[in-house]
Amino acid sequence: MITAEQPIKPTDSKPEFYQTLEAQTRALLEGETDLIANAANLSALLYQSLPQLNWAGFYFLRGSELVLGPFQGSPACVRIRLGKGVCGTAAAKRETTVVPDVHQFPGHIACDSASNSEIVVPIINHDGVLGVLDLDSPAFSRFDSDDAEGLERLVRVFVEMSSLETGIT
Ligand code: SME
Repeated sequence: MITAEQPIKPTDSKPEFYQTLEAQTRALLEGETDLIANAANLSALLYQSLPQLNWAGFYFLRGSELVLGPFQGSPACVRIRLGKGVCGTAAAKRETTVVPDVHQFPGHIACDSASNSEIVVPIINHDGVLGVLDLDSPAFSRFDSDDAEGLERLVRVFVEMSSLETGIT
């Protein structure tokens, strides 16, 4: 049985790594449906498990803006309009967005000057876009299609295991 504490071996390939991380995510969120609690714990798990990150966290859609949710890393910008920055672009297009060099992304919103690459995965259920998961790295080209696939799987587990009604407006 895989637990949230099980170490990931450095020899694991990325798909194996994300398979273990998915099992750890299920173990970590098991028995809890609170959206904020689960987002907080998942951002901590990602920040501790994935090498070369300087920020990992969530934004949730409130009207036409993404509003900062639980995260690990330096304090970040609170509100991002749909269609703006990497986060707003990924949410508007409903597509995972991998940015190898954030300085080349038109309209990138620089929250932490240490960030050089970024991946944003939209959080989607039957009602549409609920928010995004955002990871930043100080390394250029830190994220690839294996990260995109792996993180999309983790976001699906997060949606499946969390109550998406937060009561926050
Ligand atoms: N860089 C993001 C803003 C959020 S921070 O990276 C935490 C963007 O361009 O949307």
